[in-house]
Order: sequence, then structure tokens, then C-alpha cells
Amino acid sequence: MTMVSRFAASLAFWTMAVSAALIAIASLRFLALGVSASMDFVAHNLSGNALMLYMHIGIAPLALALMPFQFMTRLRACRPKLHRWMGRCYVAAILVSGLAGLQLAFHTTAGPFAATGFALLAVLWMLTTGIAVVFVLQRQIERHRAWMLRSAALTFAAVTLRVYLGSSMAAGLDFAIAYPLIAWLCWVPNAIVMEVYLQFVRPERSRLASATA
Ligand code: HEM
Repeated sequence: MTMVSRFAASLAFWTMAVSAALIAIASLRFLALGVSASMDFVAHNLSGNALMLYMHIGIAPLALALMPFQFMTRLRACRPKLHRWMGRCYVAAILVSGLAGLQLAFHTTAGPFAATGFALLAVLWMLTTGIAVVFVLQRQIERHRAWMLRSAALTFAAVTLRVYLGSSMAAGLDFAIAYPLIAWLCWVPNAIVMEVYLQFVRPERSRLASATA
């Protein structure tokens, strides 16, 4: 890797890690302020669906906060046990908050288009993570990494959703129109970018690395 591409990769990683940490912390605001005051558009879940709501908003931030640590090469090499334990917590957090997120999707007030976007995201989130677990149990580490990267691209939807929501509000777009679109936009481009990286960029980087070794 050249100096420039190493700098670009490190900048991308730290932008991802810091934004994930900020959104994870901000998502726990309901602990101090309560759901009705801090997240009024999901507060309708409090009557009849409160457990699922708390399972999602209380546990999904853990998956988001843990995700960047799993891609720190030095941490993986020097503290493999810690990597494995954080990985188990990441997977458990996705299983619990993904199932709850799937249930919340069917209770969104934003209509069936938004519900389908969120529901598909929840299913793919659990599926990609589950496949990554199967591969690590089979000691197929390269495949485990690829599927964890796919899982991470979907976890990052929590960040992209809030970035697009903030931008659409700043641009004065109608929330009722923007929100259902964002329910898809928050994850489909993430998944496509990751797939392009896995299919084209990563193999090329490995080829160059082995050619210069
Ligand atoms: C990637 C899979 C995810 C799915 C499918 C999903 C699904 C949902 C759904 C359906 C809602 C309710 C929206 C509505 O009623 O209109 C919601 C709200 C919420 N989700 Fe997720 N979510 C995911 C990931 C995350 C992650 C990783 C976080 C961590 C920060 C998170 C934090 C929240 C919070 C805090 C809310 C309450 C509303 C808000 O403050 O934006 N979600 N999610």
C-alpha cells in the first residue's frame, strides 16, 4: 500500500469509528430523557410493544459501538481472546436487537414501503452475521472476514440513516416522503459499496501485496 492509500484507509476507518461511537452514545439518550421526550416518533411502541422497543434501542447501540473494534488489525493480533469475546457480544447484540428491529419494522407509522425496507435490513443483518459465525466455526477465516464486513456495512446503516435524515431535514424535504426512502437508502448503497470492495478492490490489493512480498 502506498502512503496516500494508507492515509486514505486510515481516515475512512476513523471517520467510520468516530461516527459509530457518536451515534451509539446519542441513541442512549432515552436513558436520561425518556422515549417520549427524545424519540417521539417511536414512542407509540410504548403501549403494547415496549419490550421490543427497549430491546432494540437499548442493545443495538452496543453492536454499533463494538463493530469498529473488530476491524482493528493490531487488536485482533495482540488480544485474540478479547476479539473473540467482543465478537460474541456483537453477534448476540445483533440477534436480540435485529429480532426486535424486525418487529418494530411492522409497527412503523411511516407506511409499508418503509416497513419493508427496515424488515429486509433486519433479516439481512442477522443473516450476514449468522453466516460469518458459521464460517469462523468452520475455521474459514477469509470467508468469515468477508461476511463480517457485509454485516458491518449493514450495522453502519444506523449512522447513514441519521446522516440522511439530518440532511433531508436541513434541505427542507417533507419528512413523510423522505423517511420511507431513507429506510432503503440507509442500507442499500452501503451493501453495494461493500460488495464492490469485496469483489474488486480487496482481491486486487491482495494480488499486489503478494506480488511485492
Ligand atoms: C441494521 C439493522 C437495524 C434495523 C432493521 C433497525 C430497525 C429499526 C426500526 C424499524 C426502528 C423504528 C422506526 C420507526 O418506527 O419508524 C428503529 C428505531 C431505532 N433504532 Fe434501529 N435498526 C437497526 C439498527 C440499529 C442500530 C445499529 C442502532 C444503534 C444505534 C439502532 C438504533 C435505533 C434507535 C435509537 C431507534 C429509535 C429512533 C431513533 O432515535 O432514530 N438501530 N430501528
